[in-house]
Amino acid sequence: MTNRSSGVGSGGILNDPTEKAARIAFLSQSTAHYGDFWEFAPHIYVVAGSEPTREVFRRTGAQFSPPPGLFPLPRGVRRALRPGHLLPESLEAARRGFGHSAVAGHTAMIAAEARALAADWPQHAPCEVLPRLKRAFSRMGARFCFGADAPGLTHAEVPLSRARDGAPPRTVYLPRWVPTTARVRLRHRLGALAGRIGAVMDRRLAEGRTAEPDLLNAMIVASQAHDVPPGPVITHLLATILVATQEMSTRAGGWLLFNLARHPEWTERIAAEAAALPADPDRVGAGHVARLALADAFVRETLRLYPPNWLTSRVVVEPTELDGHRLRPGDRVMVSPYLLHRDARHYEEPAAFRPERWLAARGPGTAGAYLPFGAGPRLCPGAALASMELSLVLAWTARHHRLSCPAPWPFRLETEGALRPEDLRLVFHRRG
Ligand code: HEM
Repeated sequence: MTNRSSGVGSGGILNDPTEKAARIAFLSQSTAHYGDFWEFAPHIYVVAGSEPTREVFRRTGAQFSPPPGLFPLPRGVRRALRPGHLLPESLEAARRGFGHSAVAGHTAMIAAEARALAADWPQHAPCEVLPRLKRAFSRMGARFCFGADAPGLTHAEVPLSRARDGAPPRTVYLPRWVPTTARVRLRHRLGALAGRIGAVMDRRLAEGRTAEPDLLNAMIVASQAHDVPPGPVITHLLATILVATQEMSTRAGGWLLFNLARHPEWTERIAAEAAALPADPDRVGAGHVARLALADAFVRETLRLYPPNWLTSRVVVEPTELDGHRLRPGDRVMVSPYLLHRDARHYEEPAAFRPERWLAARGPGTAGAYLPFGAGPRLCPGAALASMELSLVLAWTARHHRLSCPAPWPFRLETEGALRPEDLRLVFHRRG
């Protein structure tokens, strides 16, 4: 067992006196007490430390089964996916559609949306932050996925996303085939959204418009390169991706603006850096974003302390060993980027919000001790897009506003599904 400090401390989220914070405190304190491998309940283990955490992510699809995807995908689509992987082989090439150079091609669009969001914050009174962020990220997601066809699909994921939010928490694990009301509703809405995406795809194929640089075309072209006709696998995955584009980014964006309000000295530094962005977002290129070093450090530090995907689990599918412990099929392991990111073995003063730690040449911590986007076959495909979106939202917001918190904890902490600041309210004061 290892003695180490967790995130319990001044400035840590655990100062928030709610039942949800108590869940995090229990996990943090038990890990500090029992070490990197402990039994939470019979056959359910919590695994901490950078090596074992990374191993669990890395061996997903082999010894560990992946978590259920965002939605119950139809059987035909599920069959096309390799265990643990998001994309079937016929679409692997489409990963480039998520990559840095593809995202760089959308810089001006993301800058325009980030600037429009910043221009629109109501002034001098507490304003609910997440709904506005969600709509902005939803627009960015639609434009990234569907380019010129985005207007017909903007916010099309809202009914599906609502059905997911409204589904009861997954505390009881029913077999996938049990048709609960929530699952039927999800399946119906997923099918409806996939149908709308399919209509756009069919039109493109009929018009031969497959050269425009967006994710739908990256998928169509990758599929055709394998002689697989573009079909439901693409449309269902894009429906999932469209929900993902706004869900996680909204949560991360909420934490980002909360930290901006709490650290006015950083708001000033980021505003000064952002002043170098061209006023016309159409002229903002990837080179400008690469020079936003302070904004980038602020985003990284926010995702370190508040990783939306703070806790995830895997089921063991064949006998295996982890960190010297034997695991049997059916055992469940829980890994937590939250614990990893607040581990004093990897970060000095782990509970302190210190973006400057990311400005050092090599960055902080041990390699592999920073996993806000996961790792291995389930590594978040949207990491490059999310990073660009968050940096530009941060830069443009700081350039236009000073922010303040109406209360020490101006939100309701939610930990079910993801770590998020529900009902977050902040006050925006436009600069003169
Ligand atoms: C700051 C924002 C984001 C964070 C922190 C984040 C984090 C993650 C993490 C940790 C995973 C892996 C989950 C696991 O292994 O259990 C994941 C999966 C995924 N992410 Fe992200 N993500 C973000 C934004 C995005 C964006 C913008 C997109 C869309 C382009 C996206 C699309 C996905 C998809 C499709 C999956 C796989 C879901 C599945 O297989 O069911 N994410 N994300």
